[in-house]
Amino acid sequence: MPNAYDIIDHTYDVVVVGAGGAGLRATFGLAEQGLKTACITKVFPTRSHTVAAQGGISASLGNMGPDDWRWHMYDTVKGSDWLGDQDAIEYMVREAVPAIIELEHYGVPFSRTEAGEIYQRPFGGMTTEFGEGPPAQRTCAAADRTGHAILHTLYQQSLKHQAEFYIEYFAMDLIMNDEGECVGVMAWDLDTGQIHRFRSKMVILATGGYGRVYFSATSAHTCTGDGGGMVARAGLPLQDMEFVQFHPTGIYGAGCLITEGVRGEGGYLTNAEGERFMERYAPSAKDLASRDVVSRSMTMEIIEGRGVGSENDHIHLHIEHLDPNLIEERLPGIAESAKIFAGVDVSKEPIPVVPTCHYNMGGIPTNYHGEVLTKTNGDANSIVPGLMAAGESACVSVHGANRLGSNSLLDLVVFGRATALRCAEVVNKEAAHKPLPKDAGEDCLARLDKARYAKGGTPTAELRMGMQKAMQSHCAVFRTEDSLKEGIKKMKDVWSGKDDLKVSDTSMIWNSDLVETLEFENLIEQAMLTIVCAEDRKESRGAQARDDYPDRDDQNWMHHSLAWIDEKSGEIKLDKRPVNLQPMSNEVQSFPPKARVY
Ligand code: FUM
Repeated sequence: MPNAYDIIDHTYDVVVVGAGGAGLRATFGLAEQGLKTACITKVFPTRSHTVAAQGGISASLGNMGPDDWRWHMYDTVKGSDWLGDQDAIEYMVREAVPAIIELEHYGVPFSRTEAGEIYQRPFGGMTTEFGEGPPAQRTCAAADRTGHAILHTLYQQSLKHQAEFYIEYFAMDLIMNDEGECVGVMAWDLDTGQIHRFRSKMVILATGGYGRVYFSATSAHTCTGDGGGMVARAGLPLQDMEFVQFHPTGIYGAGCLITEGVRGEGGYLTNAEGERFMERYAPSAKDLASRDVVSRSMTMEIIEGRGVGSENDHIHLHIEHLDPNLIEERLPGIAESAKIFAGVDVSKEPIPVVPTCHYNMGGIPTNYHGEVLTKTNGDANSIVPGLMAAGESACVSVHGANRLGSNSLLDLVVFGRATALRCAEVVNKEAAHKPLPKDAGEDCLARLDKARYAKGGTPTAELRMGMQKAMQSHCAVFRTEDSLKEGIKKMKDVWSGKDDLKVSDTSMIWNSDLVETLEFENLIEQAMLTIVCAEDRKESRGAQARDDYPDRDDQNWMHHSLAWIDEKSGEIKLDKRPVNLQPMSNEVQSFPPKARVY
């Protein structure tokens, strides 16, 4: 009985999808300005994946030594391997300082120095004097539970501003009109099974990354790129999808994160020979080189037979030499995780770790106000009316080809806030809403029904595993033409397998089989875009390490990739968008490309 749904209608000025760091910062920023705002979230806000962020949030406060936002900007541009847009990067690093003070005033329980200031630790790729000085201590920490502390504080602020929440609602599709404007979003209340249609003047997507396209990921199972999936199905492009970050220290086997803060506090990596091998790969920054560099070095050690364990397939991370009081005070969470997930007492033994999918640099293209961009009539900066994105689901692009650790929490709060500020300028509270298209939501419900009544022979979990294995084997830390082509072939088989999907539960209340099927549709679209863009880009840059094209090629490849996917056929169209090398102001000069060594 397709499409026999009673639809519940709502009207808001702004609808935010997602209640992690970016979504919450946007939500209460909007409520604070008197915009009628709804926040739709598939998990309870304080269970959003931001809660898992450990090591900290960067800002050039200079509490632990000299610092300057220009140094932070230089490090971020270099970390991005010159694929980040320098106007957006300048905006982020300058806003970082007031953003942290604001968080402090909201009540985030940051760790403190003896002098009572916010404690800051070293993190990979963060330096002073434009890379010429000693490492910067720039990452503000609340022990190793910084994301937890920030998320809870942002939720408290949202309650204070009486933001309206639709909790455990799964956003399924955008409502676009014939003019290409976004006028709302369709959602499914997982608890009651009812369908809701939200009409709004602006939709802000803050749905997080799509890390679950890989077999091993630090991302929660909920990180299924729902916003990116909705945007792709709306016929809009995604940007820089080939750039996927592998965090050097996921717990071997379990994938859970062991924060880079461990190395910031003095931890180090060794191979099977007990050698501190990072000294060979990054003689200056060593274990605190940028993440892509450390992950590649670890993978090289494993490939060359110097991995640890009975299968020589992982690496050791040591903190046995650190003062137990320091561990208790600054790294209590990872000591617990190591015990639970690896059975290791960190005061006595090393933690077994392996590079693990951690972050998507690519996503929904936006400018630094959070407005979603597309390419029309040759203009790659055309704004999609009614649609914004922030956080990991967006590609602003401040991280370019590789994100520096602790720039992610920063991205969430800075750009979550930026979307709220922009809405205050462009959303007219008094104006009438655009009319909904006559058939608003029908395609979405047809898609829902197709999944709900899928009677093939392949359970969603089986297809998802095929995707995760193919992506892990063919599109991870090192990539080659042959392997990527084989991966694309496997991914096409997974894509065709969708015709044989089997969903056994047709109910609408807490139907995890159906939710996972809709999530899988979001994942597979983005997995296809990722692997096809990775094959297309014939160079190595940041997280894209091509064995067959080992060098960065600024001549031919210093541009963002744009990619569209046809939801029915899976056909992909590729295009590009120039990188912006010009800063936002004249208070800093452009950082021209140069070799990236640590
Ligand atoms: O290692 C970490 O604590 C992760 C931080 C980040 O991804 O920014």
